[in-house]
Amino acid sequence: MPVIHITNRAGAESTLEAESGISVMENLRDNDYEVDAICGGSCACATCHVYIDEAWQAKLPAAEADEQGLVEDEPTYKPTSRLSCQIEMTDALDGLKLTIAPEA
Ligand code: FES
Repeated sequence: MPVIHITNRAGAESTLEAESGISVMENLRDNDYEVDAICGGSCACATCHVYIDEAWQAKLPAAEADEQGLVEDEPTYKPTSRLSCQIEMTDALDGLKLTIAPEA
């Protein structure tokens, strides 16, 4: 089972045993992390905003144009920003490290 290393909004770190085949957002939401995921993963709300650790940037599939456009509109946007609903968790992402973005 792959794991995700998560830093929450308060700066606390934890490790989640994640499920492959569902999104990173679903893993976070279903385990009571601070993602509201209001749109349910349809790339419309940006309430699943996370910052991906630099070391993992190149290992993820690039953001599609709709994801990139939405996340860039966030006031808390950084170059490492992604919408976690648009990243499918796979065994290859074992050890993924991310920080949950502040509430916009
Ligand atoms: S859950 Fe709405 S954009 Fe990701």
